[in-house]
Amino acid sequence: MNEKITIAVVGSGYVGLVAAVCFAEIGHQVICVDNDESKIAALMNGQVPIYEECLPELLARHRNTLIEFTTDLHDATRRSQAIFVAVGTPQSQTGSADLSYVDAVASQIARSITEYKIIVEKSTVPVYTNEWISRVIERNGVPRELFDVASNPEFLREGTAVVDFLHPDRIVIGVDNDRAGKLLRAIYEPLTSGRYYQAVDAVPGARSASEAPPLLQTSTKAAELIKHASNAFLAMKISFINVVSNLCEAAGADVEEVSRGIGSDERIGPKFLKAGIGYGGSCFPKDVAAFRYVAEQLGVDFGLLREVENINAEQKRRFFLKVRSALWTFRGKKLGVLGLAFKGGTDDIRESPAIDLISQFLKEGAIVSAYDPAAMERTKQILPPSGTLSYAKDAYEAASDADALLILTDWQEFAELDLDRLHYTLRYPIIVDGRNLFDRTAMAQRGFTYLSVGRPGGTPQKDAALSHKLP
Ligand code: UDX
Ligand code: UDX
Repeated sequence: MNEKITIAVVGSGYVGLVAAVCFAEIGHQVICVDNDESKIAALMNGQVPIYEECLPELLARHRNTLIEFTTDLHDATRRSQAIFVAVGTPQSQTGSADLSYVDAVASQIARSITEYKIIVEKSTVPVYTNEWISRVIERNGVPRELFDVASNPEFLREGTAVVDFLHPDRIVIGVDNDRAGKLLRAIYEPLTSGRYYQAVDAVPGARSASEAPPLLQTSTKAAELIKHASNAFLAMKISFINVVSNLCEAAGADVEEVSRGIGSDERIGPKFLKAGIGYGGSCFPKDVAAFRYVAEQLGVDFGLLREVENINAEQKRRFFLKVRSALWTFRGKKLGVLGLAFKGGTDDIRESPAIDLISQFLKEGAIVSAYDPAAMERTKQILPPSGTLSYAKDAYEAASDADALLILTDWQEFAELDLDRLHYTLRYPIIVDGRNLFDRTAMAQRGFTYLSVGRPGGTPQKDAALSHKLP
């Protein structure tokens, strides 16, 4: 089987654009839709509006052949067999997901349906959204036999989204009849058959022709729940290790050792057991809140999720206090800050703990010089440079003459910094590392006061600091 399917992807953001480009990569004809005219114009010109590994290369490979860009949702719907909806579903004031974009897009799609289409939820949405979408489409006069609504959650991590799409642990399709199931299975057939991995220019990753990804076909409601439950579970895992890291600090143990120990149990697994300054991003905070809200609406008390949120907020606060304990007071102190993105490998600053912390440091009277390899332009839009906040050209400039250096994002580039140079550059060799990027013994040997998360120590070894200052 080698069926080329025409697919529209509505919403060309972090999720939609990656999905669209990857659908083209596995051989489908893709129409990428967005109501943001400037974004579409940029994409048409070959510009990539987000920082995402492999995306520019794949976009260049398929632009003007298998993938096109438009703001015309009507035309895209008319020409497509499947329409994936990947518009944002932000958090509303109650904590629930704001589905107004999904609602608006569903109505517009409905007005363009004249033959059978499948509408696929790609955005993270609460259980029952498929029923709402169906109702909206029917209300617009489309007969039930002309459409199906399916759920196909994504499990893409920003920064590795392309590889996550093409080499997934699993593909989940939620459908309520086999007509929809057949079309979705055909869309993913190049991956599930292993055929894609045989291509010479296939993006490399964990999957291969002999180890093709499994496809799980469920009901639409189960698929909707799988997405929320997966993200909530991962957030819970992070909050769990963050509390364990606090225990380690109190007991004088190293959380990295503890993580390794518990993560080696196959039932637990080593991933998402990295202690830090709390999770952020466009998904975990809003999805945990939305899932808790969904449970509440369905009469189920999911108090565990409230605790996950409390722990996450507390973890940020603890880091703030740790910085204060290193500096005593903030007023007039110069802080070098490395990292603005919510994690390494992305320019995304949505719900970034780094942004929250910087705002607090500034409020306390600190002077901040910040650097991030990809997220500075986005940050400047919400925290413009001022008398107390500047953006540095590199990590060393951010550290220059600072009273302490803070690491807030786990960029690999930061882990590879020249520590001796940093030592000379800083006014005081104090590093407070919210991401545990360095070996604490090596840091002490080099003369740093090095505070990290869930690890003992922090005091420099005698004379080390002095010896580094010698010519
Ligand atoms: C996505 C999902 O949709 C969200 O549910 C999931 O939890 C995280 O990922 P993301 O791709 O990160 O969101 O959002 P964003 O980068 O903001 O992209 C959404 C795009 O949809 C934007 O380009 C926006 O212009 C577009 N959009 C929005 C439309 O085209 N039409 C609309 O009506 C609204
Ligand atoms: C997440 C999910 O992983 C993905 O499956 C889903 O589709 C979208 O949401 P993303 O938000 O891109 O992806 O990032 P992720 O790598 O999951 O990290 C989320 C946050 O948790 C980041 O702030 C990260 O720094 C933090 N994190 C992650 C930890 O603090 N410790 C860990 O061990 C892992």
